[in-house]
Amino acid sequence: MNYLEHKNQSIEIVEKSKQINKPIGIFDSGVGGLTVLKTLQAILPYEDFLYFGDTARLPYGSKSENTIIHYTRRACHILVQRGVKALIIACNTASSVALPSLIAEYPHLPIIGVIEPGAKAAIQASLNGQIAVLATAATVRAGAYQRIIQALHPQAQVFSKACPLFVALAEEGLEEGKIPEAIAEHYLRPLLKQHQPDTLVLGCTHFPILLKTIQKIVGETTLIVDSAHATADTIKAELIHHRLIQDTPLQKGYCHFLVTDAPKEFQRVATYFLKQSLPDHVLEWVDHVC
Ligand code: DGL
Repeated sequence: MNYLEHKNQSIEIVEKSKQINKPIGIFDSGVGGLTVLKTLQAILPYEDFLYFGDTARLPYGSKSENTIIHYTRRACHILVQRGVKALIIACNTASSVALPSLIAEYPHLPIIGVIEPGAKAAIQASLNGQIAVLATAATVRAGAYQRIIQALHPQAQVFSKACPLFVALAEEGLEEGKIPEAIAEHYLRPLLKQHQPDTLVLGCTHFPILLKTIQKIVGETTLIVDSAHATADTIKAELIHHRLIQDTPLQKGYCHFLVTDAPKEFQRVATYFLKQSLPDHVLEWVDHVC
């Protein structure tokens, strides 16, 4: 190896290690992505994360496709500007409609949405090919789960149901009891009367909070798939592939949070989602004017 080749190789090694030390960006419309963050932290304990919750504009699930794409692109631009080595679109609604434009905008950045990993996990889990998807209205309208499931498993039948009230229940900490059960009955009973899904996808960041209630209504024989786990496995594989994984047990990774509305409200809801409180110093308000 001549001097120039040696120098270029050294520069490449230094650049790579700089990249490895960068955080992984996580985008969500608000607090729901914390369910994904929790899973990611368990699977990638030495990685740092930079979480963006667009709390001033949530919920995304009731908005139009154009608005969701616009907000998501603006927020992800901030994450990219801060310097992230990969981007996870934790929000199912944003993943359903905005992922192609983000991939086109940042072709060199590994970008993972939650829909494809969740769809693949559901196909693997289902024995009878009948899969139910619970999501926001925008995710159901976009039909992204259905499209991917049927592209990979043409015999599969997908039944989607928008469950917008589940979002409010999760944010109020109403995980179990009469109220969430009555609402889950209202959404799920008609679907279960008509179809026999053996697998159900939680196609919204908030729904894992209501797991016990949903499981109670659909019965123990129905397998519930949470896309967060499948997404975490996918990002780990991507980081290994790009030689970007931080797997040196130097110190436990940390997470910094960017929010577009009052950090106090984010902290309140985060307590339900993370089962721990977030200290003030990890939270930062960002001006995200569209
Ligand atoms: N994060 C959204 C999702 O996963 C749920 C909350 C919202 O509608 O903004 O679809």
